[in-house]
Amino acid sequence: LEWYDRMRRDLPWRRETDPYRIWVSEIMLQQTRVETVIPYYQRFLQRFPDMQALSAAGEDELLSVWQGLGYYSRARNLQQGVREVVERYGGQVPDSHEAVLSLPGIGAYTAGAILSIAHNKPEPAIDGNVLRVFSRLLKIEEPIEKPQTKRRIETAVRTMMAAIPRYGDITQALMELGAIVCIPRNPRCDECPWMKYCLACKDQVQGLLPKKKSPEPPRIVEVYSGILIEDGRVLAMKRPAKGLLAGMWEFPSVETAATTDTTGEGLQLLYALFRAAGREVTVDSQWRTLTHTFSHREWRMRVFLCQASPLAGQTVDCASWMDAERIREATWAGPHRKVAAWVSEEFRELLQEKGK
Ligand code: ADE
Repeated sequence: LEWYDRMRRDLPWRRETDPYRIWVSEIMLQQTRVETVIPYYQRFLQRFPDMQALSAAGEDELLSVWQGLGYYSRARNLQQGVREVVERYGGQVPDSHEAVLSLPGIGAYTAGAILSIAHNKPEPAIDGNVLRVFSRLLKIEEPIEKPQTKRRIETAVRTMMAAIPRYGDITQALMELGAIVCIPRNPRCDECPWMKYCLACKDQVQGLLPKKKSPEPPRIVEVYSGILIEDGRVLAMKRPAKGLLAGMWEFPSVETAATTDTTGEGLQLLYALFRAAGREVTVDSQWRTLTHTFSHREWRMRVFLCQASPLAGQTVDCASWMDAERIREATWAGPHRKVAAWVSEEFRELLQEKGK
């Protein structure tokens, strides 16, 4: 704590005491680096300064502020959780472990962070940083993902909290140590306030810890996307409300598992999708390819230019014809944002600037 008081970074959420504002920071900081989060955090709070403002926001507005941060279900869950707090708890973020943990998007780590930082409750918040610090301090050689390992570290944090009632600062000091000193590669042991207690440093094995199970490689998926421009607009579709990139826009696309030659099958699926949107298409040519890696999945995209003749009577309500302005403003699903930029650029003359 003495080290933290001297060395802590001046981060925007460390100037806040409003539990809502701490909550927003912890959700953004899940899977996202501090430097990336800062400008988003400031913009988000300007737009939604309190829980009432966030509760009232529409989905498009919410996603447009979040665009670029990724993992969009975090934003939807945050809003859902905030609405619940407004309705069920009169706008006060609850201070019991059970109540906080039951809110959407809040797991054990985030519950501990909110309770300790915003309410100064003795609840550990164990994230990857904290696991790394303790795996080294205690020289834990078991895989870090094991539930016992995590429980052991949680006990250690509870023991510290039982000794000193600065619970929020203990949480943030441990995170800070992991973020700026006990970093994944080349830890700065000579700057570490715990150097003389650290068992890994004593045996010079800090670089080998924490031990991890080898991760699963991402699943490779072939994606076939079709670009169809008609009367100055391009056909886009909204992804389903659940799952990967939920509710975001994409060019009509189908997925097939990657095998040696799936082009024929992929195109058949793509034709069927266009038929559902009321067009019989033929593919002109493969236009571009693009690879995009998510955490557990890799999209190998092939983008085709299409020609179409209309079919009678069929449409799907997820489809929409976008002019140049809507293409610029839509919340595109992952790599479709890049495809949208290509389309805008390449077909500028064909696309109408503003819908009539
Ligand atoms: N990562 C997660 N929560 C954090 C916090 N409060 N400060 C710095 N990094 C964090």
